[in-house]
Amino acid sequence: MAYIEWQEALAVGHPGIDEDHQTLVDALNRLQAAVAEGRDRDEVAAVLYFLRDYTVSHFKTEEALMIQYAYPQASSHFAAHSDLLMQVSDFIAEFRSGKLVQGQSLVDFLETWLINHILDSDRALAVHLQGRVLAG
Ligand SMILES: [Fe+2]
Ligand SMILES: [Fe+2]
Repeated sequence: MAYIEWQEALAVGHPGIDEDHQTLVDALNRLQAAVAEGRDRDEVAAVLYFLRDYTVSHFKTEEALMIQYAYPQASSHFAAHSDLLMQVSDFIAEFRSGKLVQGQSLVDFLETWLINHILDSDRALAVHLQGRVLAG
C-alpha cells in the first residue's frame, strides 16, 4: 500500500471518532512519505512517536465510549487495541536499536491494520453508539 486517501467509505458516522481516524490516516501518510523518501531517522522517529501517542489517546477515547455506553463487544475491542499497541512498542524498540530496516513493511502493516479495524471493529462500535444515542 502507499498513501491512503480519506474517503467517505472509511467514515463510521461518529464525528469524534471519524476526526481521530482522519488524523491517524494523515499521520500514517506522513510516515509513508518519510520512509519512501528516505528521510533521516529523527524525522521518521518524530512521526512514529506522534502516531504512537495519538493512537494511545484515540484508543482511550473509544474505550471510554464503550464503557459509558455499555458496549457488549468491549473486551475483544480492548484486546485488539492492546495487541496493536504491543506491536507498535516492539517496532519502536527495533527502530531505537537500529534493527528496523524494513520501514515500508511497518507502514504497510499499520495501514492494513487501521483500515481493517476501522471498517470492522470501529464501525460496529459506531453502530452501537448511534443506537444508544437514538434510544436516549
Ligand atoms: Fe477501535
Ligand atoms: Fe478507531
